[in-house]
Amino acid sequence: MTQHDPRTVYLRDYTPPAYLVDEVRLTFRLAPHATRVLSEIRFRPNPDATGRDFFLHGEGLKLISAHINGAQVTPELIEGGLTLDAPDAPFTFEAEVEIDPENNTALEGLYRSNGMYCTQCEAEGFRKITFYPDRPDVMAPFHVRIESDLPVLLSNGNPGASGEGFAEWSDPWPKPAYLFALVAGDLVAHSGSFTTMSGRDVALNLWVRKADIDKCAFGMEALKKSMTWDEEVYGREYDLDVFNIVAVDDFNMGAMENKGLNIFNSSAVLASPATATDADFERIEAIIAHEYFHNWTGNRVTCRDWFQLCLKEGLTVFRDQQFTGDMRSHAVKRIDDAMLLRAAQFREDNGPLAHPVRPESFVEINNFYTVTVYEKGAEIVGMLRRLVGDEGYGKALDLYFERHDGQAVTIEDWLRAFEDATGRDLSQFARWYSQAGTPRVHVAEDWSEGRYTLTLRQETPPTPGQPDKQPVVIPVAVGLLNPNGDEVVPTQVVELNEAEQSFAFDGLSARPVPSILRGFSAPVILRQEQSDETRTFLLAHDTDPFNKWEAGRDLARTNLMAMIQDGTGPDAGYIDALGRGIADESLDPAFRAQLLALPGEDELAQAIFETGHAPDPTAIHEAREALRHAIADRLGDVLTRLYDTHQVTGPYSPEAADAGRRSLTNAALSLLSLTQGGDRARAQYRAADNMTQQIAALGVLLRIGEGEAELKAFEDQWSHERLVMNKWFGLQVAASAPRDAAATAEALTAHPAFDWKNPNRFRAVFGALSGNAAGFHAPSGAGYRLLADWLLKLDPLNPQTTARMTQAFSTWKRYDADRKTLIRAELERIASTEGLSRDTSEMIGRMLAD
Ligand code: PHE
Ligand code: ZN
Repeated sequence: MTQHDPRTVYLRDYTPPAYLVDEVRLTFRLAPHATRVLSEIRFRPNPDATGRDFFLHGEGLKLISAHINGAQVTPELIEGGLTLDAPDAPFTFEAEVEIDPENNTALEGLYRSNGMYCTQCEAEGFRKITFYPDRPDVMAPFHVRIESDLPVLLSNGNPGASGEGFAEWSDPWPKPAYLFALVAGDLVAHSGSFTTMSGRDVALNLWVRKADIDKCAFGMEALKKSMTWDEEVYGREYDLDVFNIVAVDDFNMGAMENKGLNIFNSSAVLASPATATDADFERIEAIIAHEYFHNWTGNRVTCRDWFQLCLKEGLTVFRDQQFTGDMRSHAVKRIDDAMLLRAAQFREDNGPLAHPVRPESFVEINNFYTVTVYEKGAEIVGMLRRLVGDEGYGKALDLYFERHDGQAVTIEDWLRAFEDATGRDLSQFARWYSQAGTPRVHVAEDWSEGRYTLTLRQETPPTPGQPDKQPVVIPVAVGLLNPNGDEVVPTQVVELNEAEQSFAFDGLSARPVPSILRGFSAPVILRQEQSDETRTFLLAHDTDPFNKWEAGRDLARTNLMAMIQDGTGPDAGYIDALGRGIADESLDPAFRAQLLALPGEDELAQAIFETGHAPDPTAIHEAREALRHAIADRLGDVLTRLYDTHQVTGPYSPEAADAGRRSLTNAALSLLSLTQGGDRARAQYRAADNMTQQIAALGVLLRIGEGEAELKAFEDQWSHERLVMNKWFGLQVAASAPRDAAATAEALTAHPAFDWKNPNRFRAVFGALSGNAAGFHAPSGAGYRLLADWLLKLDPLNPQTTARMTQAFSTWKRYDADRKTLIRAELERIASTEGLSRDTSEMIGRMLAD
């Protein structure tokens, strides 16, 4: 379907812009239904262009007038924009257009949220503001004048003149239109300042509605930490006099890196101990860092076209992962990232939506802001760093910034910086960008006379449009342990480049136990015949924290698979090994909490599917619950001790050490409640002085069917806090028994506070529904129908969020005939709806394609 859609855009069709822009001047006369946008754009023929066709993007714009060099012109309005006969010499184009922010429900372009004006232009939203070459390879300095009675008027760059009813802004750094931003509203600032490494003072502001001013302190500190970190680790300094962040309630994504004026979904920036959890604090710190880091990776050096999206996103995610590791714990962060990659990216990579990190075609670019582009994109950067070493990586990045500052570049440019800085040939490595699918690495071992040989074989299953795969370069970090548990060969990286390759280790006195893919050194699935004894041994002895955790995870998965597929019971050997791990006081509590996290239901469904069977979501859910019960039964004493001795006392702090203790005690609480009831959780709920402890206790109570009173109390306490109410909506669906999940979600849609046009609220309910795997896939099909009904309701208003949420259906081909029939019917019902958005129809089309 994608291939045949006439609206498809191809990477191979790239041509340079006919005209470049030297300068942009914009005036906004803000009015809810009739905002006037006046533009003055200085164009110049591009010497590298292949043609002279003058085309400006524009969508939903009412053209009032247009001029070239002061003379009125009548452009030809065509699909998606306008054309005219333009001079083959520098000229100034002026236009006046009218737009309707109040009725902009798609949250792209200029729109209103809670009475404020804000913009979202990435990827192709600027064309909904005025006529412009809305493509990232056209970069220009912008000067903006905003006319409005609202007290706070912001745009990119540095502030200029301002007065009664107007403000001017100037951004000296050439930028693509997707980084344009404007905000106007009744806002207050939490302010700070930062002195850069060369001694320049930067004013920092976090702009929010009055009621949220108490939720800004953490974000401000996170911003300062990010600025310091980027100077210290990457040598990158901030380049304007001000840095503004604005919190917006209605936002399709997490946040946006507009130059000097980052716009954030309020859920990704506002936090106070009473309203945000430890996980929220960590996420906020990471997103603030991510958007700030874009100032160099994305803004100063940007993408030539949208196919290169991973150039900025993969690299910036990698940078924010490094940052979080430095701020908190590298081991814990790596495990979290691997869990996310497996749960979300492997899921994408093994289904109908699989695509290369650099896609070769798209219908709607918004559909390609994916975990593959972001997270697998970050893994590729991590592999590059492993392959060229820390020093080589530093040199390559320096060269990349020096060479490409102010440019719009490609993955080829990025890789060339590495090749030139390190002398390494990356032509085979480049396949990671073009080949979709998750490589499987199969392990075979051989031992004879002091020589241990590891044979690795790689194979990548076919993905849509890519039946045949070639070998990629896989850095495999390996260490060897002696049978007594000592490490005999410390971590070294072997490079698997061919379909199959052997690596020998000599001079060993006894057959070693290998620890392979340490630190999750590549985004692959390791296929290794390993006995439970070996896994138990590695769980006890591996010096690599990732593989120590992985050994426990493998034991859990094997046990669960046997329970589901062979009807065996929980494995006491695994549970005892787990018990020793969580009781080990030399280990970080956060890491021990990760040991307690069993593989998720969706991950198990995929694992079962790969054994050639249709997964039964109900059976998976029940097996997982049975194992949790067995763990709680057998480890009751350890869990009780952990719960009692790791409580955090004193005032709440979101920093890693305390957060780790809370995640361990709450994991223990959740298990203990299965065998001992809700008293402990009720006591915790009552005593809680922070959201982490409060909501953890509420979740535990709901899961054992005892939380009714607390649920009501929570609603009464928090009805005035939107962000907290999102949690209240989501948790009820997440904690529902499978057979009730759809009904719970449906009942919540009738709640007066279910403001479905707000993406956070919509996602709270329906994200939780699709995340409750057994509930969503309940045999009645009620979950499928409910989600499809609501997607169809949202699509005409907000195609982006709708299209994103269709992904709940993407695993449909794994399931049995009955479920497949039910899901296909919903997909076809959506596909055949008249007026379906381009966004949603592309997604459904890909899911239905053979
Ligand atoms: N570029 C943003 C980020 O990753 C994400 C985003 C994309 C936000 C499109 C809005 C719209 O930081
Ligand atoms: Zn980003």
